Amino acid sequence: MMQRSILITGCSSGIGLCCALGLQQRGYQVFASTRRAEDVAHLHSLGLTALQLDLADSQSIQQAFAQVLEQTDGQLYALFNNGAYGQPGAVEDLSREVLRVQLETNLLGWHELTCLALKPMLRQGAGRIVHNSSVLGFVAMPYRGAYNCSKYALEGLTDTLRLELKGSGVHVSLIQPGPILSRFRQNAYASFKANIDPSHSRHRAQYAAMESRLNKEGPAAPFTLPPEAVLKRLIHALESSRPKARYPVTLPTYLFALLKRLLPDRALDRLLIKASGDGAR
Ligand SMILES: NC(=O)c1ccc[n+]([C@@H]2O[C@H](COP(=O)([O-])OP(=O)(O)OC[C@H]3O[C@@H](n4cnc5c(N)ncnc54)[C@H](OP(=O)(O)O)[C@@H]3O)[C@@H](O)[C@H]2O)c1
Repeated sequence: MMQRSILITGCSSGIGLCCALGLQQRGYQVFASTRRAEDVAHLHSLGLTALQLDLADSQSIQQAFAQVLEQTDGQLYALFNNGAYGQPGAVEDLSREVLRVQLETNLLGWHELTCLALKPMLRQGAGRIVHNSSVLGFVAMPYRGAYNCSKYALEGLTDTLRLELKGSGVHVSLIQPGPILSRFRQNAYASFKANIDPSHSRHRAQYAAMESRLNKEGPAAPFTLPPEAVLKRLIHALESSRPKARYPVTLPTYLFALLKRLLPDRALDRLLIKASGDGAR
C-alpha cells in the first residue's frame, strides 16, 4: 500500500501535536502545520515535517497547501482540520470584529483548506477529511457564544458536504470532543484578556469566576481525557472502510447528545447553565 499522506492544522500543542506524532509513528506521511514560524522549528526538532499555516490568513493557507502538494506529487490522502481557539465572552460583549476573527480561524479557514484538499482527493477518487468539532457544536454553553457559533456552523457545513460527496470516494467526518487536556483553556484566557472588557459588562461577576477557571492548572472539568482519545477516533475515520459521520469523545459528549434528544429546550437550558456553573466553568 502507498504511504498515506495527511495535512494537520494546529500542531503547536494539544490534540494536533498528539495526532501528528501518533500518525507519523503509525506510518503516515504527516504534514504538521502550525500558525507561528517559531513553532515550525520546534516541530522539526520533534522529527515532524512542519510548515507554517495560519487559518486566519488566506495567503498562508494557499502557500502551505501548495507546499504540501509539491512534496506529494499532487496527491493527498487526508486533511485533519483541527487548529482553532475559543473566544470567551457573553454574546452582547462580542464586537463584530472579534466574532469575525473567531469565524475566520475556526470556520472560514477550515472551509478554504477543505476546498483545496478536495481537488486532489476528487481526482484520486479517494480521500478523508476530518473536522475536529466539539460537544459545543450541538449544545451551547453561556459565555462561549463565538466558539459555539463557529462549531455549530462547522457542523452544518460538514453535514451538507457529506451529502454532496456521496459516491465520490471522499469521506468527511466530525469528531466531537468534550473536555480534553491541552492548551485550549490557556489560549482562551489570552483571547478573553485581549478582546473582552469586563469592567463595563453586566456579566462582570461571572467573568471573575470564569477567569479563575481559565487560570487553573490541570483539568478544570470532570471527565477530561488526554488527546490520545481523539487520536483513536481519528484513526478510525482515516482507516475504516465505513468512516462514521460523527465520533463523540468523552462522557459529556455522549450524555449531552442523549439529553438533547430527550429533553425539551427549557430543561436542557437549565442543565447547561448548571453544568457551566453559570459561567464559572
Ligand atoms: N481541549 C478541549 O477540551 C476541546 C474540546 C472540544 C473540541 N476541541 C477542539 O480541538 C481542536 C484542538 O484544540 P486543543 O484542545 O488541542 O487546543 P490547543 O492546545 O489550544 O491547540 C489549538 C491549536 O490551534 C492552533 N490555532 C489557533 N489559531 C490558529 C490559526 N489562526 N491558524 C492555525 N492554527 C491555529 C493553535 O496554535 P497557536 O499555539 O499558535 O495558538 C494550536 O496549535 C480545536 O478545534 C478545538 O476546538 C478541544
